[in-house]
Amino acid sequence: MEKIAIAGGSGLIGQALIPVLQAAGYDAFTLRRPYSVEALSGVTAIINLAGENLSAGRWTIERKKKIIDSRVNSLATLHALVSQKSSTVKTLISASAVGYYGSVTNDHIYSETDPAGNDFLAEVCREWESAADSFEPLGIRVVKVRIGVVLSEKGGALPKMMMPLKFGVSVPLGSGKQWLPWIDIDDLVRVFLHLLQHAELSGPFNAVAPNPLTNSDFMKLLAKQKHRLFIPIGVPAFLLKVMLGEMAIVTLEGSRVSAEKLIKSGFEFQVTKPQISSALSALNWPVSQ
Ligand SMILES: NC(=O)c1ccc[n+]([C@@H]2O[C@H](COP(=O)([O-])OP(=O)(O)OC[C@H]3O[C@@H](n4cnc5c(N)ncnc54)[C@H](OP(=O)(O)O)[C@@H]3O)[C@@H](O)[C@H]2O)c1
Repeated sequence: MEKIAIAGGSGLIGQALIPVLQAAGYDAFTLRRPYSVEALSGVTAIINLAGENLSAGRWTIERKKKIIDSRVNSLATLHALVSQKSSTVKTLISASAVGYYGSVTNDHIYSETDPAGNDFLAEVCREWESAADSFEPLGIRVVKVRIGVVLSEKGGALPKMMMPLKFGVSVPLGSGKQWLPWIDIDDLVRVFLHLLQHAELSGPFNAVAPNPLTNSDFMKLLAKQKHRLFIPIGVPAFLLKVMLGEMAIVTLEGSRVSAEKLIKSGFEFQVTKPQISSALSALNWPVSQ
């Protein structure tokens, strides 16, 4: 049985991913910190999800440093371990984010050949991906998964977006015109499985559903599925900026991101636009957070 170590495996994505990999016949396990050579014994692939949670607090200078360092240093530690002669690791599949392209709202559909943006999240992703690329000279296949906004009732952005539903309403954020490059968590874990199973694939892959929605359309759909009232007056941008500081940009801006490369590689989404309604209505309500 192939051994797959998941760095950052205790988080939202890791906890959904591990049972799916196990069901597919892999010996998948969470790589505990501090990472060690012994723990990687016999491991053929590392899936790297490790990093300080982006939305755990305001982006102070100190937290920004933690957000970057936790990602780059985790990969640096893993790099040192897999550089040892005894290493059996052949594949690194590392998380990144669509934030790579910058938090902007425009008509462009971003694909993997587009350059990185200029804001803080783009910087995080650039440094994160470059740390992942440093595994290539070791003869390791490197895949970087530019993850969109993961929809899960267990954590991430969705429970926060659903909070107004407790008061009977659903409202857009800011103008509501920003795109939401979403992906259902079940599809996302299948993306990781697909990239693991296809040894010919490497480089960056966007992991987003093929049909993004605007924030406003998403909130409208959420209201419909949860039998709440949609109020088309957005939460004012200045209020979100006061509440969240610089982090507000991820709620107020968003672009369309292409899923073409992933689809051309043979991946089939199960939850696309026509099914998002049923995916949302299947969510347990009220959510736990
Ligand atoms: N969820 C999303 O919508 C989304 C979207 C785009 C990108 N991503 C990225 O995908 C990755 C996984 O996402 P997730 O939602 O599963 O994140 P998560 O729930 O925050 O889990 C991340 C995991 O990273 C490890 N970790 C936390 N602080 C760390 C630190 N200071 N140094 C090293 N490791 C640390 C922890 O695992 P251990 O305790 O097991 O080490 C934690 O469970 C993250 O890096 C995230 O930025 C997520």
